This record gives sequence, structure tokens and C-alpha cells, in this order.
Amino acid sequence: MSFRNFLLGIFASFSLAWGMVVVYPFFKMRALKPIVLTEASDGKDGLYFPKRAGRVANGAAVYAANGCYLCHTQVIRPTYAGNDLYREDWAGLKDNGEGLDTRRETNAYDFEGEKFAQIGVSRLGPDLSNLGRRVEAIYAKGSSPEAWLYKHLYSPRGPVERRKSDCPDFRFLFEEREIMGNPSSDALPFSVAEGKEIVPNSDAKALVSYLLSLKKDDAVPAALNFAPAKKKADG
Ligand code: HEC
Repeated sequence: MSFRNFLLGIFASFSLAWGMVVVYPFFKMRALKPIVLTEASDGKDGLYFPKRAGRVANGAAVYAANGCYLCHTQVIRPTYAGNDLYREDWAGLKDNGEGLDTRRETNAYDFEGEKFAQIGVSRLGPDLSNLGRRVEAIYAKGSSPEAWLYKHLYSPRGPVERRKSDCPDFRFLFEEREIMGNPSSDALPFSVAEGKEIVPNSDAKALVSYLLSLKKDDAVPAALNFAPAKKKADG
């Protein structure tokens, strides 16, 4: 093999990987088009183009800046790669109360509004694809979901059942300040000096709004649902 071919070979190997991992997803995801629903497979006509509520773009930037993706993924893997799909708290509900099975894999629309799809580097902590629903329906039952997340970010080992949590705290996203007038409704329930309170800063607010926008409790169109269990049930 000549040296020239060797160099070309190396170039081709790296550019193929770069093309498939970076360039192809970039073009695929940046111009998402609405999906046309059909009566036969979706039970209704119309267009599907989910919009996420909350401060998605700002929050995603805080998520990225603090390296949450190093320990948390945001991918519900296909069945051949893991059993994520069968975890109701991760992939959606087996029965959403209206007889609909909403469990599904991650699709490109889940990252709508974000600059990058933060699929994550490793799964040291739980997958966060469905965190918003988990917090609202399970952790923060009856109380405010925002408050649950603020407490987690400030003191992950606070609750007894999380004493061994390996999630780092992010106290720099909070500030301790003098109470002026009435205490803030966002103030954390931790004791501080008399007349002071701990409140989330604007980054913490954007991050929590973003985390609550991570939800998988809607039914996706048949064209996007690759879940084998669902296919079997349908057909
Ligand atoms: C060093 C790795 C690591 C980093 C970095 C990290 N986490 Fe965690 N996280 C964990 C682990 C491990 C758990 C599981 C223990 C627990 O539930 O507290 C966890 C749990 C959580 C939970 C509770 C999830 C659930 O469903 O129980 C949330 C929310 C969370 N992390 C948010 C974040 C956010 C937001 C960031 C970035 C600002 C972050 N984490 C950064 C390791 C990490």
C-alpha cells in the first residue's frame, strides 16, 4: 500500500464516521417537517408537530454548560438495544387512562427547540427523557414539581431515600439573600440565617423549566412509533 492510499484510507474512515454521526443527523434534525396523520393508522387526520412548553432553548444551554449529559442520557433505546421501552416511568405509559399505550422510543421531534440533541455520554444516573412526567406524577405528588427539582439540584442527598445519591449538587445555581418584604415563593425549605432565604437564580429557573419539558406521555403517530409491542397490539 502506498503512503498516499494509506492517508486516503484514514481520511475516508474518519470522514465516514463524522458524516454519519454529525453531518447526517444535523441535516435530518434541523428541518423537521410536520407528519401527516392518517385516519387508518392514527385514528385522526391532521398534522403532527409537537411543540414543547417551557424555556427549552435557555434551559438546554444550562444543561449543557453543567455537564448533565455526562451522567444522564435522553434516549429511550429500541428494544434490540435495551429494555427502556418497557419501563413506564422512562418510555411512557402502558395505559394513559384513555386506553392508549404511549410507550415509545426517542424520535427526532423530542429534541425540538434545542440546539443539540443531548443524548448523553453515559448512564450513571437515570435517563431523563421522561423526567418531567416522573416528577409531576410520582415524586412531587400534590406539591410543586419545580420545588422538587430545586431541592434536588440544591441538595440531591436531602431525602432519606436518596442518601446515597451520586448526583452532584449545583448550589452555585442558587443565591442566599436577604428577605425583602414577603419571602419568595421559590425559596427553598432549608434553614439559613434569620431574615435570609435561598432562591434559585435565573439559570436554575431555566434549567428546571427545561427539565419539566422532558416528557413522554403523548401518543406519537404510527409513522414514528417503532415500538414492537405497539405494532403487535395494533396488528
Ligand atoms: C457525576 C454524574 C452526574 C452528573 C454530572 C449529574 N447527575 Fe443527576 N444523577 C446522577 C445519579 C447517579 C443520579 C441517581 C441518584 C438520584 O436519584 O439522586 C442522578 C439523579 C438525578 C435526578 C433524579 C432523576 C430521577 O428520576 O430519579 C435528576 C432530576 C438529576 N439527576 C438532574 C441532574 C441535572 C439537571 C444535572 C446537571 C445540572 C445532573 N443531574 C448532573 C448523576 C449525575
